[in-house]
Amino acid sequence: MKEDDEEFLQGAALPLGALSAADLYDRTKKMMWSAVRYKEMRMEYACALKEIRTKFDVLNTEFNVRESRNPIASITTRLKSTESIAKKLIGRNLPLTLDSMEKNIFDIAGVRVVCSYIDDIYQIADAFLRQDDIRLIARKDYIEEPKPNGYRSLHLIVSVPVFFAEKRKEVNAEVQIRTIAMDFWASLEHQMKYKRSIPDQQEISEGLRGCADVIARTDREMLALRRRIEAAEDLPSEDDELFDRLRKLDMQIG
Ligand code: GTP
Ligand code: MG
Repeated sequence: MKEDDEEFLQGAALPLGALSAADLYDRTKKMMWSAVRYKEMRMEYACALKEIRTKFDVLNTEFNVRESRNPIASITTRLKSTESIAKKLIGRNLPLTLDSMEKNIFDIAGVRVVCSYIDDIYQIADAFLRQDDIRLIARKDYIEEPKPNGYRSLHLIVSVPVFFAEKRKEVNAEVQIRTIAMDFWASLEHQMKYKRSIPDQQEISEGLRGCADVIARTDREMLALRRRIEAAEDLPSEDDELFDRLRKLDMQIG
């Protein structure tokens, strides 16, 4: 496969006139097989997204039934576009081959988990990483150590097994876990980053930096307030607890 991969895209730069008709036919066929293989790889990444989404869905459902609270506000997934994959490989001076793509790009499958509170982020991340089929490749905690622009999120690069009809494949994915407030900030900052020319960029960056600090403080205060409210709740008697659990038996699960 590797030899075929190397023909992918690079083949397009060859002086085609220098090739015999048979060579040209051969190369074209190899490129086409690479395209077919590329599509299959995208399918594998898309299936890894389904696996990971389900894992977070399950954790949220379990938490909801037990605690009557949803730690996860939303889960979104995305498959990196072919254009972004090509730009990333070119930008890092890496070969434009399927092999190199699979080895060097860890965020082709991307999952974003948005939580209400900061403690939910770590609780959900720990429960996810405790699962014995998940292999942690890298953990970057931009909440403990925010980026200079104010970006905060917990990033996990993982590999997850996906079972197909004829094989089991370990597929890499990037999971970003953040609060609703961090997500709100990151989407606006992302919008700014991808605008080519903004006249008052410096001022906007400073504004965003300020908002990031306010948001971080608000996240911390909201958590402290939630904990105070929880601590103030009357301790239920054993009967209360039982009736509470019985009431939840009829709850819609899902
Ligand atoms: P990438 O090449 O962008 O993947 O960077 P990296 O490999 O150094 O990883 P990093 O953890 O810095 O970023 C991975 C992803 O996190 C990005 O693709 C974004 O989705 C998100 N991210 C990282 N930094 C920022 C940021 O400053 N602003 C926003 N909006 N998103 C960010
Ligand atoms: Mg990325």
